Amino acid sequence: MDVREAIKRRRSIRKFKPDPIPEEKIRLLLESARLAPSGTNTQPWRFIVVKDDNTKRGLQRAAHNQRHIGRAPVIIACCADLKAFKEFPERVDELIESGALPERSREVFIPYLSKGMDTVTKDALMVAAAANVAIAVEHIVLQAVEIGLGTCWVRWYEDNKVKEILGIPEHVEVMALLPVGVPDEDPSQRPRQKLDKIVYSETYGEKYT
Ligand SMILES: Cc1cc2nc3c(=O)[nH]c(=O)nc-3n(C[C@H](O)[C@H](O)[C@H](O)COP(=O)(O)O)c2cc1C
Repeated sequence: MDVREAIKRRRSIRKFKPDPIPEEKIRLLLESARLAPSGTNTQPWRFIVVKDDNTKRGLQRAAHNQRHIGRAPVIIACCADLKAFKEFPERVDELIESGALPERSREVFIPYLSKGMDTVTKDALMVAAAANVAIAVEHIVLQAVEIGLGTCWVRWYEDNKVKEILGIPEHVEVMALLPVGVPDEDPSQRPRQKLDKIVYSETYGEKYT
């Protein structure tokens, strides 16, 4: 299956067969997440793989009783470690050592990023975290399609309850819960807006033709 087909076939799946997910498939999903791009290669994503029925029931309750949470054989809690953003000097060094960045980047990037880090607000970090982790989550979602699994992004949950259930520390934020399983439904494509509503030419609002 090519990427285009995976994108076209993907649906949010809310009914799962009870079949367990083989460990190698779970690892393939996580490996796909690991390869996602991130700003200055910060890789702030952290994943908690949940299979325990009690924990899943707790997460379902924390997610306003959305039943697909409890019914999925696996839930991947997708998180962001906000401390990862402070580790950028190591990431810049790795990029330089790998040849991805020239040696002089150390003098350019590190003072610039350090200055930003001194003043950055938690809200700004959360925006960066959300962007980076969302890409990794969507890697999982599309990889799942290729191997016959279904997923559903879930963001409607009580954050503090999810954190408590999963023992998540203060500096880590939950970005999504992702139930994963063999689909037990085959929904048709959900509605999407037309391109002319969402794409502009050169400046905002200018019709793209
Ligand atoms: C950031 C985000 C949050 C979402 N939160 C939920 C959720 O809490 N519960 C749920 O059942 N679906 C959730 N969804 C799934 C959307 O409802 C779904 O993507 C949308 O209706 C389009 O359907 P499709 O994914 O099948 O194309 C979420 C999707 C995204 C991307």
